[in-house]
Parts: sequence; structure tokens; C-alpha cells
Amino acid sequence: MDEQAKTIRVACIGLGPRGLGQMKELLNVPGVGVCAVCDQCEDRALEGAAAVEERTAQRPAIYTDYRRLLKKEGESLDAVLCCTTWITHSRIAVDAMRAGCHVAAEVGGAASMGECWELVRASEETGKFCMLLENCCYDRNEMALFHMQRQGLFGEVVHCEGGYRHDLREEIAFGRENRHGRLANFIHRNGELYPTHQLGPIAKLLGINRGNRFLTVSSIAGKARGLHEYIQTQPRLEYLKNQVFNEGDVVDTTITCANGETIHLVHDCSLPRPYSRGYALQGTRGIYQEAPFGNAIFIEGLLGKKEGWDHSWEKFDDHREKFEHPLWARYLDEGVHFGGHGGMDFLVLSAFVDAVLCGATPPIDVYDTAAWMSVTALSEQSVALGGAPVPVPDFTNGRWIDREPFRRGIYCLEDVCGECFLESNLKN
Ligand SMILES: NC(=O)c1ccc[n+]([C@@H]2O[C@H](COP(=O)([O-])OP(=O)(O)OC[C@H]3O[C@@H](n4cnc5c(N)ncnc54)[C@H](O)[C@@H]3O)[C@@H](O)[C@H]2O)c1
Repeated sequence: MDEQAKTIRVACIGLGPRGLGQMKELLNVPGVGVCAVCDQCEDRALEGAAAVEERTAQRPAIYTDYRRLLKKEGESLDAVLCCTTWITHSRIAVDAMRAGCHVAAEVGGAASMGECWELVRASEETGKFCMLLENCCYDRNEMALFHMQRQGLFGEVVHCEGGYRHDLREEIAFGRENRHGRLANFIHRNGELYPTHQLGPIAKLLGINRGNRFLTVSSIAGKARGLHEYIQTQPRLEYLKNQVFNEGDVVDTTITCANGETIHLVHDCSLPRPYSRGYALQGTRGIYQEAPFGNAIFIEGLLGKKEGWDHSWEKFDDHREKFEHPLWARYLDEGVHFGGHGGMDFLVLSAFVDAVLCGATPPIDVYDTAAWMSVTALSEQSVALGGAPVPVPDFTNGRWIDREPFRRGIYCLEDVCGECFLESNLKN
């Protein structure tokens, strides 16, 4: 790291649509220099290099083989941003940590439990971190709800729900034409393939890996019809006409936690439908529910208060400002980089850069990364066992029972650190 200018040197590996977008967003974060880019498709690597040059007037080194990149550049790098396909993230992250780099890995589930353990071992042995870039942890709604929950407004949380309900039929089915990685996963696998968008915020809310942990995963997959039917309507996909897909159109997963909470996740990406993450959060004093025509909330005696037994919903949007997380209050005040998913991409990347600059554990650490990603491999096992509960390993090896204190800061996801937002405590 260039100590004087406080600039970190980053290599970006995987420059498909998401990688290119994330790299451009990363360049909006102060203190970042992209000095190398890599994609196995040369044209994408070149496009990435051109984007860096246009923004910074510096041409980064260009690679199509990430191992060569790590060998040649590893020593001079601080960090790697990995936005490759689901089944390549972990291998690249492990190799990057072993080459001396911190890692920011785009989201996706694990294909095996070995993969999760390798991430943990590599991080523990090298002292480098691997942060899953779960942007939804920094979504405005999720952060306001976290703020409310930490103030005790929901009482004791008992149950959470969430999902990834996104019509991706075109993206999946045209995977070969567009060089996109999901298709093979939907052909061969059957389980909760993309758990972390809602599981990340829920895990932070429930203190997973800090006094709580996931105990079991059980999943049931329904039939697979959506992609097959969609493909019949696409003349260019004639060669996939008789393709059998293993991935159920709707996969339901239940996770139990050591402190008794239950989490219900839904994966639903191959049927026509509007986007939803279906977040719901229910405690002894109230409930929040994402809903198609406006998110709804009821807090006993406070919001939705009516006479007698009339438990009416109120619109969450009418109350959000009162409970704004200070990170979002500041962000709105300064001017949001709305480009990436309404602003949360910039925040998650800023959190990553902050951790690298400070040499500190990131708000989503390797234990979170492994636990959240493991749900995919475990749910595949559970589906294969007819929905039987499958135990979740403790990646912290017992440390979850009494963890070292977390780092307080503006990007902290364990608590709302109000004191860090005081003018006198803000470094920038
Ligand atoms: N957090 C979010 O909101 C969000 C949004 C979109 C995508 N994503 C995630 O980002 C990742 C990338 O998404 P995408 O849509 O760009 O995927 P993609 O499959 O379209 O692109 C992946 C890119 O990685 C490259 N790649 C694969 N293996 C490689 C290797 N070994 N070395 C170098 N390059 C390699 C491919 O050539 C391709 O260009 C996925 O994990 C996806 O789930 C996250």
C-alpha cells in the first residue's frame, strides 16, 4: 500500500457485466488504484483495461490467466476484486490470499463444503481476509430495519424470511450465447443456489458467528418447468429444446439457529415474476414484511396502533426516515452514488476499501463468507435427502461462543455505531 497517498493497489478478476460494473464503482471509492485486470475472455479483459484507462489515465496490466496475474503482480497488490462465476470464486479467493492479497468476492453459493473450509484455512494461515460483497447488507431498507431492531423495536426476533425471487430465464438460458455462468448450474444442480442476498442481512441481525450460529439447513425443491417452457419460445435456443434442468423452479429452505430463531429462504429464478427479496422480520413486539404494493410494518403500541384487536399494517416508507441508519443519513446528505443497485454497491465496496486501508477485519469476514455460502452446498445435500435437515459446520471452530470484540466503525454490521458518525470522529 502506498502509505503516503493512502491508495490501495487492486487487481480485478472477472470482467463480465457485473465485474465491469463493480470495477467502475470501485474506482468511485477514494483511495483505490486498479493496477491489473483479468478475464479468461481477452476482449473482456481489454474492455476492463480501457475502462480503467479512461477513468484514471493509467493503463493496468492485462491478463487472461489469473494465476499468472497473481504470480507477476501478487507481491505489489493489496487486494483482489473477484467477480467471476459462482464455481470459480473460492478457488481464486484462496489463491489470491495465499499470494498475499485481501479479497473481495462477489456473491454466490458454495458448490462444496471443502471450498468453504479452504477459504477459512487460507485466511487464518495468511492473515488475509475474504469479504463476501453482500451489497444487500448495505441496502437502505435493510439498514433502517437493522437500526430499528438494535433499538429493540421488534422485541426479540423469532423468525426471518427472505428470498431471491428474480426472473432470470433469459440470463440463464442464453448463458452460452452471452458467455454467462449460471446455465450449467441450473442444468446440473438442485438447491438454494443464491442464498446470500437476504441471508446476509438476516445473519447480521441475528448475530450469526457472534453468540449465535446456523445449526441446520433443510430444503425442498419443486418441479423444474420454467426454463424448459421459456426455451420452447426461443428459436435461437433450439439446441436446448430437450435439455433437462435439475434446479427446481422454487426451492424452499429452512435454517435453524442455535438461539432458536428460524429462517425461511426461497430461491425462485426461473418463472415469470417481478423482482422481490421477500424480506420479513418478526419478533415479540412487531413485524416487517416486504410486500408487492409497498413494504409494511406493525409494531405493537407504536406503529399500526389501533383500538382493541385491530392490528393494521402501516406503510414502512412513511416511517423509514425516522429510523434511518446513520450511514444512510450521511450518504443521502453527501449525495448517493445511485448507479450500483440504488447505492448499496458503493457502500459495500467502501466498507471493503476501509478494511484494507485500516488493515482491519472487514464487516463481513471469512467466517460469515463461509457460513453464508455453505447454505448452497448444504441445501443441495438436503434436497437430495428429500428435505432432511443437514448440520451446518461451525467455521469459527467454537469462537462464535465468545468472539473477540468487533471493530466499531461507520460500516460496522454488528451494531449501529452512532459515536463513529460524530463530526469529531469522522476521518473523512
Ligand atoms: N451483488 C449483486 O448484486 C450481483 C449482481 C450481479 C451479479 N453478481 C455476482 O457477480 C458474479 C459475476 O456475475 P456476472 O453476471 O458478471 O457473471 P458472468 O458469468 O456473466 O461473468 C463472469 C466473468 O468471469 C470470467 N471468468 C470466469 N472464470 C474465470 C477465471 N478462472 N479467470 C478469469 N476470468 C474468469 C468469465 O469469462 C466472465 O467474463 C456472480 O457471482 C454473480 O452472482 C452479484
